[in-house]
Amino acid sequence: MSAPDPPGPSSLDRYQLRAAVRSAARRLAAAGVASPEVDARLLAEHLLGAPLVLSDGAGEDFLPAYLALVGRRAGREPLQHVLGVMWLRGLELQVRPGVFVVRPETEVVAGEAIEAARALPTPLVVDLCTGSGAIAAAVAVEAPGARVVAVEIDGAAAALARENCERLAPGRVEVVGADATAPGTLADLDGCVDVVVSNPPYLPPGSVEDAETARYDPRAALFGGGRDGLDVPVAVVGRAAALLCGGGVLVLEHDPGQGAALRQAARAAGFVTADTGQDLTGRDRYLRAVR
Ligand SMILES: C[S@@+](CC[C@H](N)C(=O)[O-])C[C@H]1O[C@@H](n2cnc3c(N)ncnc32)[C@H](O)[C@@H]1O
Repeated sequence: MSAPDPPGPSSLDRYQLRAAVRSAARRLAAAGVASPEVDARLLAEHLLGAPLVLSDGAGEDFLPAYLALVGRRAGREPLQHVLGVMWLRGLELQVRPGVFVVRPETEVVAGEAIEAARALPTPLVVDLCTGSGAIAAAVAVEAPGARVVAVEIDGAAAALARENCERLAPGRVEVVGADATAPGTLADLDGCVDVVVSNPPYLPPGSVEDAETARYDPRAALFGGGRDGLDVPVAVVGRAAALLCGGGVLVLEHDPGQGAALRQAARAAGFVTADTGQDLTGRDRYLRAVR
């Protein structure tokens, strides 16, 4: 066996690699990135294709490529856009400019819908306002008996949802490009659906303070409409009431201040129970209502 090639002049040994990552973290911290060490490590691992702790060094292509990615992140491009991927419940999903990046609070919302779906052998599950298809894909993967239908109004998001769902759960999710709040959408399924899950736009006007969200997430994915952001969520409650069968479950993500209004909307729409669940930080985050 021939001896390995000696490191080239621009290759990094393990110490130089770690020093480059520490330096990147300092640059990201100075730029105001909230989790600079984690982001610096994930960007490095993206290029290395392996965990940093297992990496003995990097080739000569690494440093220029790494500095370019770190520069984008320092310019406050969201990490998921720089990497081209995002995660929900352990699934790696593709990200695309103009499509909403799934958030940690949706982990719990998707989990609640999955639990309701897994209680039945062959449930019909509808994900309204599916965006990238993240929730729909998670339901399909974690509730293997489910048939999943996902609805999204934006063409680019619907295309991405089809790609994500087809890669993660081939043949299991139908993505429909339509207005989720229109009575004609999935009208053939009225009264037949076991679980409706939705993370719709729900922010009240003027409530986005985070610069990355304001610059990179589409407005139609953020603001729910009306004085309190509730126009789309309340319309989704109404559409879910028509879609669900008796005993069917609605799980609807919302802003922490919208719990009482949405419990009231659910009761007014004919749901038998309406409760508010909390996210991982303990804030009111979703409606769980039984038809
Ligand atoms: C907050 S994002 C959530 C996306 C995805 N459910 C998730 O959790 O990542 C809301 C999504 O709803 C879509 N949307 C907004 N209004 C809609 C409507 N009336 N019908 C269908 N989709 C809608 C937006 O385009 C956006 O993709």
